[in-house]
Amino acid sequence: MEQTFAMVKPGAVQRELIGEIITRFEKKGIKLVGLKLMQMSEELAKQHYAEHTEKPFFDELVKGITAGPVVAMVLEGENVINIVRTMAGATRPSDALPGTIRGDYVLDTGKNVIHTSDSKESAIREINLFFKKEEIINYSLATETWIY
Ligand code: PPS
Repeated sequence: MEQTFAMVKPGAVQRELIGEIITRFEKKGIKLVGLKLMQMSEELAKQHYAEHTEKPFFDELVKGITAGPVVAMVLEGENVINIVRTMAGATRPSDALPGTIRGDYVLDTGKNVIHTSDSKESAIREINLFFKKEEIINYSLATETWIY
C-alpha cells in the first residue's frame, strides 16, 4: 500500500486547524499510520527543503516552517500520494480550488497551511527524514473489511 508524508505547517497549528485537516483525510478513508507534533530545527528544515536552496524564498521557507510546532504525518492508501496532493490544493492561492485545504484556508502563498510529498521519491525521503521505522504503526481499521 502506498504511503505519503504530509505536514500541518506552523501557521495552521496557530490557527487551530490540525483537527480540521486530519478529519478531511480520515473522512476520505485515508489511514493515518504515523503522527507527531514537533518543533523542527533549522537543520531539519534545510534538509527537508534541500531541493529549493537556490529559490529566492528559501530563507522565508525555513523561517516559516521553524516558526512554531508542526504536525508531521504518514498517510497510507491506494494512490495516496496524488490524492493527498489533490486534497491539499494548488500552491498558488489563486489556483487552489474551493473544497481543497488550501482553497478553503489560504490567501497567501507563504502561509499555505500544509506540505505534502510531490512524488514517490520525495514521499520515501520525507517519511525517513521525519519518522523512525518503529514510529510507523501497522494496524487495521474496522472499515478495512468492506461489506457490499
Ligand atoms: S517551485 O518554484 O515551483 O519549485 O516552487 P514550489 O514547488 O511550488 O514550492 C516549493 C515550496 O516553497 C513554497 N513556496 C513559498 N514559500 C514562501 N513564499 C513563496 N513565495 C513561496 N512559493 C512557494 C511552497 O509552498 C513549497 O513548500 P511546501 O512546503 O511544499 O508547500
